[in-house]
Amino acid sequence: MAGKTGKNILLGVTASIAAYRACDLITELRERGHTVTVVMTRDARHFITPLALQSFAGTPVVEDFFSLPGRTRPVHIELAKNSDLILVAPASADIIAKLAHGLADDVLTCAALAGTAPLVIAPAMNEKMWENRFTQENVKRLRGHGAKFVDPIRGHLVCSDEGMGHLAENASILKVVEAAFAGK
Ligand SMILES: Cc1cc2nc3c(=O)[nH]c(=O)nc-3n(C[C@H](O)[C@H](O)[C@H](O)COP(=O)(O)O)c2cc1C
Repeated sequence: MAGKTGKNILLGVTASIAAYRACDLITELRERGHTVTVVMTRDARHFITPLALQSFAGTPVVEDFFSLPGRTRPVHIELAKNSDLILVAPASADIIAKLAHGLADDVLTCAALAGTAPLVIAPAMNEKMWENRFTQENVKRLRGHGAKFVDPIRGHLVCSDEGMGHLAENASILKVVEAAFAGK
């Protein structure tokens, strides 16, 4: 349960090399009194384990719809209903494209479609992928529908020494999350 001022945050972790950063982000969100439930995409498992994420979150990680014995209600609907905010960090180019076009082929995209909570997206990707016009159009489209972005910054990228596409600092992500709770 979230604390007095704490909220229920659904954290989507996608298949980016920056996925390990979700661990510190979870810790910082919990230090602020928030409860964090992690949904990871299938490919995110190549970058970080569910065990690591659930150890930081203190709640079970949701990976797919179909391996949750004993559940009588669809997990994505429950998650959408119980979340005060959906934060996707790191957000891959792929998830941004899916969210922008209403795709619903995993728990995260279905929960985002089923939810009415604010959506905060912190992208991380190769510089060219970030600058690509399709990605930028998807970002613009999501912004137009009220999603808040924490833009990536210039920094170390695994594909090149440095570039624009490095996941924003946690402090910047937390600032946008708190602003979203304040209705800004
Ligand atoms: C080593 C490696 C690092 C990657 N890092 C990123 C990344 O930071 N951002 C991104 O958008 N895609 C990245 N990709 C590609 C994604 O993993 C791929 O598009 C994946 O299918 C996205 O899945 P998801 O959006 O369902 O999590 C990377 C791929 C590899 C092999």
